Amino acid sequence: MKIQKLPGLFGAEVSDIDLKDPLTADDLAELQAAFVEHQILIFHNQQIEPKHQLAFSKHFGPVQKLYAEEHRIPDCPEVVVLSNEQVDGKHIGVVAAGDYWHSDLSPSKTPGLATILYGRILPSQGGDTEFADMFTAYDTLSDAMKERITTLRGIHCISKLRNHRVEVTRPGGTAYYKKQNSIPDECHPLVRTHPVSGRKGLYLSPRFTIGIENMDDAEAQPLLDELFAHQIKPEHVYLHKWQVDDLVMWDNRSVNHRACGGYEMGDIRRIHRTSTLGDVPF
Ligand SMILES: [Fe+2]
Repeated sequence: MKIQKLPGLFGAEVSDIDLKDPLTADDLAELQAAFVEHQILIFHNQQIEPKHQLAFSKHFGPVQKLYAEEHRIPDCPEVVVLSNEQVDGKHIGVVAAGDYWHSDLSPSKTPGLATILYGRILPSQGGDTEFADMFTAYDTLSDAMKERITTLRGIHCISKLRNHRVEVTRPGGTAYYKKQNSIPDECHPLVRTHPVSGRKGLYLSPRFTIGIENMDDAEAQPLLDELFAHQIKPEHVYLHKWQVDDLVMWDNRSVNHRACGGYEMGDIRRIHRTSTLGDVPF
């Protein structure tokens, strides 16, 4: 197995490994360390079935079942289909997921740890995924800003309908998000300490963070706007252009991401997703 850092700030490519095979103890330890250090790991040319993706994902935390049953692989329900494919007029997967910058499941008490995507079918154009390095985004704040936000906590809200920065784009989305309006918000520190490395990173996003605990919006919203703009400065961002059979995984404790879209409804994109559960942010 070879691990090669990408030329930019973060991310690494892993080669000479077949994810169909069980990992050796040495490879697993190396991958787990590389995952924390590089934040994104990219494996090209993997020919794997959902059961292989699930077995691999379990090495990076408890795997969660997400989304409605009809969007999961029947005999492997931890694997969710992200797709614009339709069969008999019905969408077989989740359409237009993750179209605003976010960290997965941040409105939960214990948000997402690893997200693992496997590219099965790709559109003729678009469909890229962008990632932003939240360690560097924190490191490059002014000392005054670091001081200002050091004890603040962001309010994370799951429903798009209570967030003025986003729009509902998914078919049937408004009814879906209406049901989520009653789910309580969660507060997490704006500055999150990585539980493994101890590094500090920014932990907030325009998709989920709608305010700051115990702060009036007159003060909180401009502060959030400033931090959101800083997070995605071009020098903090890596754009992944997918190849068929890529498996890409990232650490939601130190990375924000978004789906770039840019493909037509009939231009099929199918990704298999697994997600693992992390701990309470501190
Ligand atoms: Fe996501």
